[in-house]
Amino acid sequence: MRTYLVTGGAGFIGSNYIHYMFRKYGDSIRIINVDALTYAGNLENLKDVEGRENYMFVRADIRNREAIDKIFEENEIDRVVHFAAESHVDRSIRNPEIFVETNVLGTLVMLNAAKNAWELPDGTYQENKRFLYVSTDEVYGSLEEGDTYFYETTPFAPHSPYSASKASGDMLTKAYWDTYRFPINITSCSNNYGPYQFPEKLIPLIINNALQGKKLPVYGDGKNVRDWLYVDDHAKAIDMVQEKGRLGERYNIGGHNEKQNIEIVNIILETLKEMLSEDDPRKALVSKDLITYVEDRKGHDRRYAIAPDKIKEEIGWYPETMFKDGIRLTIQWFFEHEDWMKNVTSGDYQKYYEEMYQVK
Ligand SMILES: NC(=O)c1ccc[n+]([C@@H]2O[C@H](COP(=O)([O-])OP(=O)(O)OC[C@H]3O[C@@H](n4cnc5c(N)ncnc54)[C@H](O)[C@@H]3O)[C@@H](O)[C@H]2O)c1
Repeated sequence: MRTYLVTGGAGFIGSNYIHYMFRKYGDSIRIINVDALTYAGNLENLKDVEGRENYMFVRADIRNREAIDKIFEENEIDRVVHFAAESHVDRSIRNPEIFVETNVLGTLVMLNAAKNAWELPDGTYQENKRFLYVSTDEVYGSLEEGDTYFYETTPFAPHSPYSASKASGDMLTKAYWDTYRFPINITSCSNNYGPYQFPEKLIPLIINNALQGKKLPVYGDGKNVRDWLYVDDHAKAIDMVQEKGRLGERYNIGGHNEKQNIEIVNIILETLKEMLSEDDPRKALVSKDLITYVEDRKGHDRRYAIAPDKIKEEIGWYPETMFKDGIRLTIQWFFEHEDWMKNVTSGDYQKYYEEMYQVK
């Protein structure tokens, strides 16, 4: 049975990926989820896979070499999908150190552990092993007036401590291919949205605040553009790259769905109004009057837009979920998971691990 080691599986994209993989492969794969459970890690995201015999959770920090080596010693790992990272740009502006420690040094620990486990005496690797680094379009910097898209060949120009740390992890991963022919792929994806996203990020923040009649903070003039992708489409792309991608290659993943932040806010408000029933008291709270422009984020990149041509041509992946459908699915999910949101915003979700795993 093929075994996947997923880092950061308790986070937003990691947990969606684990659900996707079990939906697709059922009992024919095994997944080991390695997560330190920072503020962004929430095991409640994985409640419904917890009882599976082919799923295991290990609480470990990817900066801890001994802990990571031990996982490789005790398990025959076939695939590494490396999501674990500090992921919030605003936090990186306030505290860059932890971003370098986790996103750069932690990635190095993961690369070395997998390399040591998979390397044969002649310097080649056991067959059919793959390491995938989940990168971001932010490594390419910002598109300006007249620029088209980010391609795989676009030079790196990260601006925030977050994107600089992700670019470093990304380049280290590529260096392991160039130097050691270690079997890697890198995927650079645009902004994701969907279930289980922590409400510090734009879309869940707006949904959550709007339903409570709270202010909706929008940076600067609200015209920064992001290219939004439904998270299941990202999970599918990662799986397809690991199965069909050429080793050593980078693949851009994006939805061709560019929208200004203010457009996103307006779409959410309109969709909420449509979806809430007349007798729901929250309907009256949802209003454009809540939009509040706030001082722009430092170094705020103007526009991100991905050209996903290579992954489409070589691998046959394309985004399946239109934004108008994806946003409805996301809002519906938040309607059905009010407790999840309450636990996250109150901090109670952090007790779940202690209760579930009975640790003090
Ligand atoms: N969210 C996006 O739109 C987006 C887009 C492109 C790429 N990415 C990349 O995808 C990955 C996942 O993003 P996300 O939005 O799901 O992030 P997230 O913040 O929701 O989840 C990160 C997970 O990593 C864990 N983690 C953090 N530090 C750790 C450490 N030292 N050791 C072990 N686990 C640790 C956290 O506990 C959490 O479960 C990141 O690498 C991010 O850079 C995200």
